[in-house]
Amino acid sequence: MELQNSNEIFKKAIDGKYAIGAFNFVNMEVLKAIIEASNDNNSPVIVQCSTGAIKYAGVDTLVAMAKSMAKNVNIPICLNLDHGKTFEDCKMAIDAGFTNVMIDASSLPYEENIALTKRVVEYAHSKNVTVEAELGVLAGVEEDISASHNIYTDPDQAYDFVKRTGIDSLAIAIGTSHGTHKFKGDAILRLDILAQIEEKLPTTPLVLHGASTVTKKLVENAEKQGVMLDGANGVPENMLSEACSKHICKVNVDSDLKIAYTTGIRKHLNENAENVDIRKYNTSAMEEVKKVVAHKIQNIFNSKNMA
Ligand code: G3H
Ligand code: 13P
Ligand code: ZN
Repeated sequence: MELQNSNEIFKKAIDGKYAIGAFNFVNMEVLKAIIEASNDNNSPVIVQCSTGAIKYAGVDTLVAMAKSMAKNVNIPICLNLDHGKTFEDCKMAIDAGFTNVMIDASSLPYEENIALTKRVVEYAHSKNVTVEAELGVLAGVEEDISASHNIYTDPDQAYDFVKRTGIDSLAIAIGTSHGTHKFKGDAILRLDILAQIEEKLPTTPLVLHGASTVTKKLVENAEKQGVMLDGANGVPENMLSEACSKHICKVNVDSDLKIAYTTGIRKHLNENAENVDIRKYNTSAMEEVKKVVAHKIQNIFNSKNMA
């Protein structure tokens, strides 16, 4: 199928009370693993690239890979720019063929966030591209900003923001953070704030960033192969799956795939020290990524057979 924007997949996800995985990729192997696992499970999927990924692999290469892989499967695939920081980032992605862009101006003063987001929406919509924006700050390092604590999204402000910007989806801060070490003490996800936002914005698709689960099993498997992840933890699966059954439509996952991919490579090389065939250790890495994607689709997002 052709790549598509987020309109239809989010509408169906809200109606069906499930969520769609938005998985980061930086190379052909991770993208292939995400799409194969989604296709095996007949699930819609969002594949996304950060500006760092674009710098690494080249925008045209990334778009061409996504388009050609999408053509060979029968599931809806949306290609998203993750954490665009400027109008120029978003325009570059839209012009290259991305079908959804995130403008992350959440670190700017509120009115500036609105002005920049509106400018992106106007350009994106003229090209049939949908737009995600963010309100609130995730704890930890969010690209160039680092915050020691969450600044949760304010439900009234969220309502005002969506109405004034015309965005298609809203990323909210309810306690998650980017990376492999999310919670110092107990994991807290403010599902009460999610419920208040949902009440104000019943038809707006909501997005959860920093949603890797960094499960004990994933960490143990990685550590067995020599990856050092001391103290790593993520969003508890039960909390995440509750959020997905509410209005969270898009769940961003990068760290879990990075861990899985690295584990797969190390496992192959640890067991086959003589091997120098790139395809062999990349195949092992792709298998690990596929397992993670399939598990989430089946057990957390509930998007299996929703394509
Ligand atoms: O939210 C950001 C993503 O995890 C992207 O990470 O900038 O290392 O590609 P990256
Ligand atoms: P994780 O670090 O939890 O995978 O979050 C990824 C993300 O939010 C990408 O935008
Ligand atoms: Zn993010």
